[in-house]
Amino acid sequence: MDSFTINKIAGAILGTFLFLFAIQLVSELIFPEPESHQTGHDEAEAPADGAAPDAAAPVAAAAEIDLPTALASANADTGGKIFKKCAACHSVTAADGNKIGPNLHDVMGRKVASAAGFAYSPAMTSFGGVWTAERLNKYLTSPKEAVPGNKMAFAGLKKITERADVILFLQVNSPKAPPLPVK
Ligand code: HEC
Repeated sequence: MDSFTINKIAGAILGTFLFLFAIQLVSELIFPEPESHQTGHDEAEAPADGAAPDAAAPVAAAAEIDLPTALASANADTGGKIFKKCAACHSVTAADGNKIGPNLHDVMGRKVASAAGFAYSPAMTSFGGVWTAERLNKYLTSPKEAVPGNKMAFAGLKKITERADVILFLQVNSPKAPPLPVK
C-alpha cells in the first residue's frame, strides 16, 4: 500500500512535470510560429506593397473605363454566361414570365417596375423612369445602393466589363430597345 502511495505521489509529480514540460513545448511550438508567420507575412507583404502601385494601376484604370468604352468591347455571349447568376430569379424569354424577379425580356428602354403581374417593392416603383444602360450600370454595380430598399437580393457585379457584357446581353434580348450608347 505504502509503495503504491509513494508510486502514486511520484507518478503524480512526474506527471505534473511532464504536463508542464509538454505545455512549455507546445507553447514554444505555437508561439514562435505565428511570429515567424508574421514576419513571413511582413516580408511577403513588403514586396506586395512595393508592387501594389503597379497592381493597383490596372484596377484603377479599369475602374476609369466609362460605360460606352466598356460596351464597345462587350460580348453578349459572355453576358449570357454571367446572366446565369441572374437566371435563378430572372428570365429574358418573354414566355417564361416572372420568377422570383420580374421578366427581363425587353427590359432595355422599358419603364422601371413595369413587368406585367410582378409585385415590385415600393422602392423600385418610385425609382421611376426607364431602364437605360447607364441606369442599369449603376443598379447592377450595387442594387442596394442604387435603389435603396429594393428587394433584389443580389450583391452586384463589381467589374464594369461584366456589367457591360450583361447589359449587352439584355439589349440583345430587348428587340424594342433604343441603341446602346456605344462609342
Ligand atoms: C435573388 C434573386 C435575384 C437575382 C439573383 C437577381 N435579381 Fe434582379 N430582381 C430581383 C427582384 C426580386 C427584383 C424586383 C426588385 C423590387 O421590386 O424591388 C429585381 C429587379 C431587377 C430589375 C428591374 C426590372 C424592372 O422590371 O424594373 C432588373 C433590370 C434586374 N433585376 C436585373 C438583374 C440582373 C441583370 C441580375 C444578374 C446580374 C439580377 N437582376 C439578379 C431578383 C433578383
